[in-house]
Amino acid sequence: MGAALVVLALHLAVNVSAEDACAAGEACSSSLSFDTPCRDVLEVLPPGTPKLWSRTRPAVISGAVADAAWDLRAFSFEAMKVDFGETLLKVFSPAQAALLDGQTSRVLPLRRIISKLDDEQKIYVFDKEFFQNVSAKELAPIPGWLKMSDAVAFLTLGGPLSGTQFHAHGTAFLLLVAGKKRWYLHEPGQFPNASARALHLPVSAFEKDVLPSLESAPLGCVQHAGDAILVPDGWAHATINVEETLGVAWQRTTSLIKTCEHGHDYWCLGQSFVSAEKLSLKKQPQRYKELFAEANELTGDFPIGFIRHLGPYWQVSTEAKDIFKAVRSKVLQLLKASKRHSDEALLAAALVKRLADVLMGTRKDAKRASDLLAVAQKKAPEAGQGLALARLLGQQFRWKEAAEALAVHASYFPEDRGAALMLEQATNFARKAQMEQSAAPPR
Ligand SMILES: *[C@@H]1O[C@H](CO)[C@@H](O)[C@H](O)[C@H]1NC(C)=O
Ligand SMILES: *[C@@H]1O[C@H](CO)[C@@H](O)[C@H](O)[C@H]1NC(C)=O
Repeated sequence: MGAALVVLALHLAVNVSAEDACAAGEACSSSLSFDTPCRDVLEVLPPGTPKLWSRTRPAVISGAVADAAWDLRAFSFEAMKVDFGETLLKVFSPAQAALLDGQTSRVLPLRRIISKLDDEQKIYVFDKEFFQNVSAKELAPIPGWLKMSDAVAFLTLGGPLSGTQFHAHGTAFLLLVAGKKRWYLHEPGQFPNASARALHLPVSAFEKDVLPSLESAPLGCVQHAGDAILVPDGWAHATINVEETLGVAWQRTTSLIKTCEHGHDYWCLGQSFVSAEKLSLKKQPQRYKELFAEANELTGDFPIGFIRHLGPYWQVSTEAKDIFKAVRSKVLQLLKASKRHSDEALLAAALVKRLADVLMGTRKDAKRASDLLAVAQKKAPEAGQGLALARLLGQQFRWKEAAEALAVHASYFPEDRGAALMLEQATNFARKAQMEQSAAPPR
């Protein structure tokens, strides 16, 4: 019965056209077909609409790219490979942006990224350094009508099926220069718990395994090249690239929305964790205890998106240690169960780095932290944890192992000059240590 319903839901999702969905009345805005163009699902606004950033519903700004009058020959994969091929960009795997607040240790040159867009490993670029470069900035000046204070431009690109899991932040616009991108959006406070439990999955797996059975489905639609999507402040959203895409995101770094005033969902809980840091030291232990209990309940004992709050919790209470141990065991299970070099392994490796950061921040335990990172590097060297691992090993004067970690890292990140330099140093130190050891008189 359940299986039959899922099949039926999928069938509907594929076959119901925009017109049919709209004819069904209220289903129009929460359309059954997530392949409907966003122009047919969201409000459509012309470029130049004033105060777009203050809106509280998602919208499409049709023709935004044409209005911005960017030189689309210069701003293309082909031209950028020539002009910016060596520029290093931040790369994410599908579930990483959601669970690690936009942190990644994976940095690759644009030339190599473009050659990997069709790989099995899904590469997704979301990088704000790129447009800091004056000649890059000329590619995509933000039009005046989009200006908003406290906003930053990001370069974004990815191959088919790459994307980013649900996350929420301040007001954002995404101007699509090439390709098609599917969107899922939830209003503040209304994020389903079932989706919160699936944040570690790639968006394609979410679409297949979670979306059909959701009681309150997200708004969903496909953005086409040339248009911009407005994501209002605090709306949780996920995206998946239907084909190779290239675009510019323009977004506010901080959210002004108090999500908990709209509903008690995963993102409300995230904001509560941030607020806990501002409480008096006396009140913090109890508050963190409550919040982690809530996090466990909401995520089915899998609170991997809240690891960074274990650091501040541990500073004020040793009870954090039990939660740390439980989370560590879950993350290591995830790592162990993942295939070497897979996206799952990459995510697990990035989570392991988070655990190592907590250990260093609270216990200064370089030994345990490096043990963790060594396992992660073995499973997913592409995650770029080799540098951090080598530093931790260096702190323990384990130069030979540090050199080995750096050599592995350098084979995946040959453009990382800092790592190459560190490798040279570690190799020298290892050799010296070896000589001193053999010169020392036997005890
Ligand atoms: C900006 O990009 C150009 C083109 O790739 C490059 O030649 C230049 O060195 C970059 N400038 C900076 C400051 O990174
Ligand atoms: C999600 O989980 C939390 C914590 O268990 C609960 O309070 C809340 O009601 C749940 N939300 C929904 C929509 O089921």
